[in-house]
Amino acid sequence: MDKFLIDKSGPLTGRTTAGGAKNSCLALMAAALLTDEPVILENTPNLVDVRTMSKVLENLGVRVSQETGSIRLDASRAEGYNAPYDMVRTMRASYYVLGPLTARRGKAEVSLPGGCAIGQRPIDLHLKGLSMLGAEITTSRGFIFTRADKLRGSVIDISGPRGSSVGATINVLLAATLAKGVTVLEGAAREPEVEDLAAMLGKMGAKIEGAGTDRIIVRGVSELGGAAHRVIPDRIETGTFAVASAITRGDVTIQDCCPEHLKTVLDLLECAGVRVEISEQTLRVRAGDGLSAFRLRTEPYPGFPTDLQAQFCALATQAEGKSQIEETIFENRFLHVPELIRLGGDIKILGSRLIVSGPTALYSAPVMASDLRASAALVLAALVADGTSEINRIYHLDRGYENLEVKLTRLGAKIVRVSSAA
Ligand code: UD1
Repeated sequence: MDKFLIDKSGPLTGRTTAGGAKNSCLALMAAALLTDEPVILENTPNLVDVRTMSKVLENLGVRVSQETGSIRLDASRAEGYNAPYDMVRTMRASYYVLGPLTARRGKAEVSLPGGCAIGQRPIDLHLKGLSMLGAEITTSRGFIFTRADKLRGSVIDISGPRGSSVGATINVLLAATLAKGVTVLEGAAREPEVEDLAAMLGKMGAKIEGAGTDRIIVRGVSELGGAAHRVIPDRIETGTFAVASAITRGDVTIQDCCPEHLKTVLDLLECAGVRVEISEQTLRVRAGDGLSAFRLRTEPYPGFPTDLQAQFCALATQAEGKSQIEETIFENRFLHVPELIRLGGDIKILGSRLIVSGPTALYSAPVMASDLRASAALVLAALVADGTSEINRIYHLDRGYENLEVKLTRLGAKIVRVSSAA
């Protein structure tokens, strides 16, 4: 397994670029199952999760050709309907094939994803939505089986106990495009990735209104065509680079990003004393000495994203005063905390809240990455920790950050990847 060795790095400075959004790309790839015509995606990130989704689709018979920054998907000969455990286990978003397969082929067999490091992550809302569209759903031997002659539109409250679900909104939206009649999704997720998917489905001929709000109306059509679409910039990668600049008291400009998608995050950085300059597709983040404590609470979009909570926890260790962080989306998303404490962070866990006292002088230690965003927090902390930190299990990072060490090195970070083969 590869690991990173990271030395304390001075202020990061210079320019970097945001890649295409992983979470958007995965949903857009699944949408290719809805048509016999080619779907061409541009600005696609080269990530392990994207390659896993390619394998899931290839296993269904989709022809996938991937070049640098683009993917062509052709489902004209895709006759499969099964997503096996080995694939779904490594990436939960594999179950995005459930909706399109049920709508288009009338059947799907998709392995149950099981729990994951950050919590139970049930899929009851996905199943409720598909069932309300008329699919018959059974589970047996760790698989979900769906059957449907023809899906029919319905009014569905897709929200769950913790608010809207991105995944359930995406899965049911995909299915509803080919259902007969009108589907209304109440309590829908408003995340930019849902809007991006709706935009591409619109190009394919789907009739969708209200994406980006909590009420999406879909008028089913009998078939969809191909489309070419550019994936939106990754707001979580952008936010991670913004924190990298702030935590090292740097001056980093992030190009090809969408600051509009990070409004809550950027407002919080400004409250903490970080200077943020925004233009349409560029973000400049500068931090001097005065970094002050902050309060954040994760919420569905447009609230503060849970996927940036761990990175801001690392930042809080360097802010003056007591920061408060509350996680409301996932029940077990503090796996970075014990590792940050090993690096010298002063952090207390109080149920779903953290109290982070700062600033603390961090020092190097070997630490273990536990999930994608927790790993990013450890990299950020290591940039300001004295000595050489060793971050193990960085395969989590490779799922969601393209060339992270290359991009950080260009900004002046002292980071090297030690490959397990070495
Ligand atoms: C997506 C993102 C992930 C992000 C998360 C929240 C992708 C591939 N992943 O995950 O990076 O952290 O949104 O922004 O886009 N829930 C249920 N029942 C369900 C589904 C979800 O109770 O059937 C709950 C979850 O346990 C969680 C909450 O709803 O508490 C939100 O989860 P959801 O938005 O569905 O997350 P994902 O789509 O899995």
